[in-house]
Amino acid sequence: SQEVLIAPSVLSANPLRMAEAVNALSGEYDMLHVDIMDGHFVPNLSYGPDLVRSMREEWPDVLLDTHLMVERPQDFIDVFADAGTDILTVHVETAPHLHRVLEMIRAKGCVPGVSINPGTPVEWLKPVLPIVGLVLVMSVNPGFGGQSFIPEVLEKVKTLKCWKETGPFDYLIEIDGGISTQNVGEVVRAGCDVVVAGSAIFKAQSPYETAREMRRIAAE
Ligand code: DX5
Ligand code: ZN
Repeated sequence: SQEVLIAPSVLSANPLRMAEAVNALSGEYDMLHVDIMDGHFVPNLSYGPDLVRSMREEWPDVLLDTHLMVERPQDFIDVFADAGTDILTVHVETAPHLHRVLEMIRAKGCVPGVSINPGTPVEWLKPVLPIVGLVLVMSVNPGFGGQSFIPEVLEKVKTLKCWKETGPFDYLIEIDGGISTQNVGEVVRAGCDVVVAGSAIFKAQSPYETAREMRRIAAE
């Protein structure tokens, strides 16, 4: 089977110890997932572009996967692209001019991603699938780490996989929320290419062993 990418979400790391927590993974990951929250689209606050810039400086060769959970994402494309993210993902629910925002992201040299909440129909994504490099399927309602996986979203993953096989598309399917060693096998079998895990990795007794174990299960 195709290689599955593991994306630890630094949201679950102690912000004062984030660099140590990431370095302790000793490369047992494929990209770092950075959650940006504005207190409007989601009921929580997290970080701004300065964190992404510092991560880029600290880890020049690591793929940075920025997940924008903000209203008016068009106002934040330039700052996050200039901060050095590789992938920049916006929510379909936040962008009435979705093609325009995704084109802005591509024009800044980043991979454009689109994300979808658990309660939003997958059909909403269809018009932009030809122009995205990544589709981020939320398996919790965004805003917090450590929530329970909503299994119904696997239907969306299967649909996206089916569309990818039939259409002229080239996107990775990423899943985010409530992923652990318990369900990573199931989500990969449904068609996910990228697996985000926050609390399962950073709250584990051994984050390194847990990331390794997730990779091992995902590759089965
Ligand atoms: C949720 C964020 C997730 C979060 C996942 O709003 O988008 O990336 O960090 O955390 P876990 O893996 O603990 O559900
Ligand atoms: Zn996320």
